[in-house]
Amino acid sequence: MFFASDNWAGAHPLISECLTKEAAGFASAYGTSDLDRSIEARFSDIFETDVAVFYVATGTAANSLALASLARSGGVTFAHSEAHVIEDELGAPDFFSGMRMVEVSGSLGKMNPASLKAQIIRFPQDAIHHGRANSISLTQATEQGTIYDLSEIETLTQIARENGLGVHMDGARFANALVALDATPAEMTWKRGVDVLSFGGTKNGCWCAEAIVFFDPAKAREMSFIRKRAAQLFSKSRFISAQLAAYLDNDLWLDLARHANSMAGRLRDGLAASNTARLAWDSQSNEVFAVIPRHTAKSAENKGAKFYEWPIPKDLGETVHEDETLIRLVTSFATTSDEVDRFLQVLQQD
Ligand SMILES: Cc1ncc(COP(=O)(O)O)c(C=O)c1O
Repeated sequence: MFFASDNWAGAHPLISECLTKEAAGFASAYGTSDLDRSIEARFSDIFETDVAVFYVATGTAANSLALASLARSGGVTFAHSEAHVIEDELGAPDFFSGMRMVEVSGSLGKMNPASLKAQIIRFPQDAIHHGRANSISLTQATEQGTIYDLSEIETLTQIARENGLGVHMDGARFANALVALDATPAEMTWKRGVDVLSFGGTKNGCWCAEAIVFFDPAKAREMSFIRKRAAQLFSKSRFISAQLAAYLDNDLWLDLARHANSMAGRLRDGLAASNTARLAWDSQSNEVFAVIPRHTAKSAENKGAKFYEWPIPKDLGETVHEDETLIRLVTSFATTSDEVDRFLQVLQQD
């Protein structure tokens, strides 16, 4: 019963097989092999435009270096107050970009457009002492398992454009959001004003595959240098390409994300029907948040369930009793319905 995170799941067998197949023989290094070039072309097909693609080792590196590519001295980036770039990356985005991350409020993990505007106004372009607005970073799917619909993305990117700011999307769970919206990769990104995407594969069945994708290759000119200086240029980058070859082939990535989302749906249905637990809010991707009694959480853990207790967001605060706790449950390509049903039974048994 592994619901701690989707990065606890291993790698999908087709991805492992492709890695093994590519392990033999020789190929030129540092992203110049035929396989690397073919995957870059594949990304351009998938996004229906010429893109520039840069692999990095982690989602944190992708976010940090993507923001570094948008940065100017004294720049400020705006992100939701619970965004991974603010809460969980130990200041790496600030460190690599030299910018300051400023929090924007909004319910259910989504930046509120009025709050974004109010924050941008605080950092005019001539603000030599406090910093000048530079970019926004939005997470899709969000850290609360919710999803910005296409018009919500457009509203935020429009505000960014009106203020001359760049737009980054943290897509650690890009595929989960995409299939939930039933949108195309182009519709959820550059057609809605996104400049640069952190494209995550690790949480959705890859061993380790994260890419920074630029929708205007001209804006990627500095990135080769930014990445090398951050010690993120893989010599054997063909092994990232090998994973992505299998990941993108026959839409495996979308099937894996659909499976993870449907397992989350099964969990949500079970929790909604439960008399010991309740859904904290309605998430739409592969992350589910539930309020359960503390003793139920303990006994589920004793029976082998893995999950994290989660900080209670402000807007939920008063509805959670002191004997209760908020838990986050994350499903993955490897979650089975049996595992979900066993977990729901464990909650009922307490
Ligand atoms: C929304 C989001 N962005 C980025 C990351 C960063 O990933 P990594 O742990 O590979 O640095 C995570 C990982 O949990 C995440 O949930």
